[in-house]
Amino acid sequence: MKIKRAVIPAAGLGTRFLPATKSSPKEMLPIVDKPAIQYVTEEAVQAGISSILIITGRGKEAIENYFDVSFELEKILEERGREEELAVVRKIAEMADVFYVRQREALGLGHAVYCAKNWTAGEPFAVFLGDDIIFSETPCIKQMMDIYDEKKCSILGVMDVAEKDTSKFGIIGGKEISDSLIEVTNIVEKPSPQDAPSNTAVVGRYILTPQIFEEIENTKEGIGGEIQLTDAIKSLLKKEKVYAYRFQGKRYDIGDKLGFLQATVEIALKREDLGEIFKQYLKELLKKY
Ligand code: UTP
Repeated sequence: MKIKRAVIPAAGLGTRFLPATKSSPKEMLPIVDKPAIQYVTEEAVQAGISSILIITGRGKEAIENYFDVSFELEKILEERGREEELAVVRKIAEMADVFYVRQREALGLGHAVYCAKNWTAGEPFAVFLGDDIIFSETPCIKQMMDIYDEKKCSILGVMDVAEKDTSKFGIIGGKEISDSLIEVTNIVEKPSPQDAPSNTAVVGRYILTPQIFEEIENTKEGIGGEIQLTDAIKSLLKKEKVYAYRFQGKRYDIGDKLGFLQATVEIALKREDLGEIFKQYLKELLKKY
């Protein structure tokens, strides 16, 4: 079965980015001039997925408005002959079929994914975390979909991290099949370096089979008092094979202040309209530091 649907959990509280996230969703933080969630949605669309479910929550209405038609704005741009801006604004509303479910309480990523149970209709699906941006030649999720086509089981997007950072991620253990593919035999949420099964961390891309929902149903609160997707994947391992794939590309966690700054600077430097002038500015600025 082909992957046709994507779920973007975006109902988290974003406590690492307070106070900005007190009233604005972190997924709407602009990286140069596009909100983070648009980069994520573009990755899905580039991989051929055009049906997207966003898991939202209280205070996240800006996300729904963003993907909707903006009648007043479009009318004014049209009247003023601002064709270029009009095309940009219209394209956002047309890029995908976007659906919404509200997670009433931020009870954890596993709980957020469970909110997609009915919508995914018994099919395997992709999950994109709304605050993880990944740049790569071939979209990261497309690389994982190719592995899924071969293996027909859940695939986790992973990257190697510094040992001291294992406590920030879900960490896998398993059998290396090749440089990029691992058969997962263990997964632990945020282990300390001494308890971590490796330094290979799951980042914000997953392809999951529908069996995950039964596993989430049976998952109790884990670390941080949340229903952890990691714990549900751990119990999935007892029933189905799960592979981890070291994707090609660079990932930014924009829910983290440093990650947000890195993404902003690097994306600005790559932009045709801003890159050169911004580079000159940074060079001058750095002389003073
Ligand atoms: P994070 O742990 O990065 O998000 O969850 P958070 O809880 O919003 O952030 P901090 O740690 O407090 O700063 C990963 C993804 O899962 C979503 C988040 O929106 C984020 O995209 N999530 C998390 C939910 O949708 N619901 C939840 O209950 C928890």
